[in-house]
Amino acid sequence: MKGIILAGGAGTRLYPASLPISKILLPIYDKPMIYYPLTTLMLAGIKDILIITNPSDLENFKKTLGTGEELGIKISYKVQEVPRGIADSFIIAEDFIGKDSVALILGDNIFHGFGFSSMLKNVCESIETKKAEAVVFGYQVKDPKRFGVVEFDKNNKVISLQEKPRYPKSNFAVTGLYFYNNDVVKYAKTLWPSWRGELEITDLNNIYLKKKTLDVEILGRGFAWLDTGTHESLLQASNFVQSMEINTDKKIACIEEVAYRMGFIDKKQLNKLAKKFAKNDYGKYIASL
Ligand code: DAU
Repeated sequence: MKGIILAGGAGTRLYPASLPISKILLPIYDKPMIYYPLTTLMLAGIKDILIITNPSDLENFKKTLGTGEELGIKISYKVQEVPRGIADSFIIAEDFIGKDSVALILGDNIFHGFGFSSMLKNVCESIETKKAEAVVFGYQVKDPKRFGVVEFDKNNKVISLQEKPRYPKSNFAVTGLYFYNNDVVKYAKTLWPSWRGELEITDLNNIYLKKKTLDVEILGRGFAWLDTGTHESLLQASNFVQSMEINTDKKIACIEEVAYRMGFIDKKQLNKLAKKFAKNDYGKYIASL
């Protein structure tokens, strides 16, 4: 399975904080935001990853993550010239996806919770073995109007998906992590822009829903799904990571640690990476592993 991180968009909602650099490279506590979605894909076992950026931030992303070789993965880059919507990712990434299945994560989505990596691995496996065609994740939120929203019937079966509904039919938002079989490219090409001029991910998910092949996995209360769309939520995400890291003495989304634990790199390479940050706590943490 291949992976895409969508890290484009103008990020105007966070101006002037995101004026000099993409919002997705702003720090969440002690590391750039993109480390979080990147480790989510790595924990799913995905090693071939495409980062889609806006034209002006391409070089900054390359400077931050390079080719991925140091982490035992492959990172490539493509530009989205205009923010034409989340589902546009699959059209941009057509050659990259080839005949494979694909996971997409939005660059500003942070997931953290016990059992998440085994859940991700299971989802990948069910797509790859064709047991499932599309899997998305639902999470209970206070303000569903800001998200894609899932409606369930009384047997907990999904009956509709709506993008930012004025009157949400449930409190369950669809998070920004999506797994699809290879049909996704073909389906993305059939979409028309919405009233806001975007190829909507919800319209794409609705195609699978109509075919009765969309699975919605619920992330329970033990999970944290953090949105970083406003200054408040950006700060809250940093505070969350800080408090978790201090209390547990473990880092969240340390790309070097995940690469090591997933078996993508060996101890020798991990030590080499630790030396890059030898003078600070991040490097000391890697060395301590
Ligand atoms: O975060 C989950 C939500 O993400 C879902 O519940 C919604 O269904 C989905 O539409 C999306 O809603 P947002 O309002 O958060 O999408 P936004 O336009 O803010 O884009 C999310 C990220 O994707 C953001 O970091 C910018 C990036 N992006 C967005 C678009 C539309 C791109 O890189 N290119 C784009 O064309």
